[in-house]
Amino acid sequence: MRTVAVMLEPVMGEIGIIPANAGYLEGVRSWCDAQNLLLILDEVQTGLGRTGRWFAHQHHGITPDVMTLAKGLGGGVPIGACLANPRADVFEPGDHGSTFGGNPLACAAAIAVLSVIERDGLVGHAAEMGDLLHDALLDLGAKDVRGLGLMQAFEFAEPRAKAFQQSCLEAGVIVNAVDDHSVRLVPPLIVDSTEIERAHSTMRKAAK
Ligand SMILES: Cc1ncc(COP(=O)(O)O)c(C=O)c1O
Repeated sequence: MRTVAVMLEPVMGEIGIIPANAGYLEGVRSWCDAQNLLLILDEVQTGLGRTGRWFAHQHHGITPDVMTLAKGLGGGVPIGACLANPRADVFEPGDHGSTFGGNPLACAAAIAVLSVIERDGLVGHAAEMGDLLHDALLDLGAKDVRGLGLMQAFEFAEPRAKAFQQSCLEAGVIVNAVDDHSVRLVPPLIVDSTEIERAHSTMRKAAK
């Protein structure tokens, strides 16, 4: 058995938004180069503007050999994509067939999504709104507020994340308690400052 690649998420999503530490991805990239391994980044959650850059790896100044995308790519229409640089470009047409993969409807949806993200400057907007959201979370007095762009999380010292999630939901704000202590927020890229302010005041009440 031979290792051929290292695969990771630049920000670990499901377990509560854990961004890679400064220098970590650069170190993995150099190590992969030295070992002649491919670096595969899973940008299914972090890609397409979510972190305030088109792709999260751009915060680290590195380039993966292979990158996966999905979720935001179709704006709700199911589509995934696997991008490879020339070093990892091993697929021939037909190698990776799938009944519904890459069909014209899904691809048209993805093209429309990319055009709207570009037309409306949603990547820069996500960075700006992400800063507002980050400040709103800091104001809750919670610990370990962390994230990139519109992918943010924080921790309660006590196990009250689930109760907080329920209070927010009853007031019309969807947050995600990933465990008893951690809450993650991944609002849509079109969220505006008024909505963030509204969520902020709801969360303040729920956090009391
Ligand atoms: C980071 C990440 N990668 C991959 C996947 C799986 O994507 P799919 O459901 O398209 O197989 C998910 C799904 O939640 C995800 O969050």
